[in-house]
Amino acid sequence: MQLLKLVATAIAFIAGVEAAANFFPVDAVGNIAAVRDDTGKGATHIFYQARNGSIVRLCTTTAFIGNGKQNCGSTEVVPANEVMYGTPITAAPLWTSAGAFDGNNVYYYSPDGILSEYINAKMLHGPSCTQCVTNQRFRVVNGSVALYSFADNKTPGMQLRVGFESVESPGTITEATFNSNTQKWSLSILPN
Ligand SMILES: *[C@@H]1O[C@H](CO)[C@@H](O)[C@H](O)[C@H]1NC(C)=O
Ligand SMILES: *[C@@H]1O[C@H](CO)[C@@H](O)[C@H](O)[C@H]1NC(C)=O
Repeated sequence: MQLLKLVATAIAFIAGVEAAANFFPVDAVGNIAAVRDDTGKGATHIFYQARNGSIVRLCTTTAFIGNGKQNCGSTEVVPANEVMYGTPITAAPLWTSAGAFDGNNVYYYSPDGILSEYINAKMLHGPSCTQCVTNQRFRVVNGSVALYSFADNKTPGMQLRVGFESVESPGTITEATFNSNTQKWSLSILPN
């Protein structure tokens, strides 16, 4: 038993040493969202909450297997005071109606439980971002970590759909929908 343990430790140690040569350190509090940024060969944007509470963006120029380096630095995109500690995080790539890549938007919860948005293309976030869903003050059920988002450029008049558990309708999914014609957010619940 003792010998097995030693062997296992030795293998883990060797594996650790090998990996340590060439990795970018990440210490995420919760889940990590990643989207293609559609430039280059598998270029990726990665968003997560760092230990200090802020949302950080990382970028690679290729998929990891292609060895494309992390080239965004470790960029804080939303400061800790605008992010609930332990928030879920989700990201949606945007597409124009012609099908061209149009940046990506990130969703998370504010410290007071408001569904919040970071618009990467314009680096907008927080209460001062008038076009962000944040400004609608849609409230999330206390303790809920349910969250999804995606862009929908096939359904006329639709651009973004963000699913969460709303204080107004607990016990089901509510979608915040951004209408690309009116440029307005509205809420609807999962129909029976
Ligand atoms: C929080 O941590 C991230 C990741 O390490 C770092 O990029 C960022 O600068 C830190 N924020 C502050 C305010 O120190
Ligand atoms: C959420 O629930 C926790 C634990 O019950 C409580 O301490 C906290 O005050 C609640 N927050 C809100 C905004 O209601």
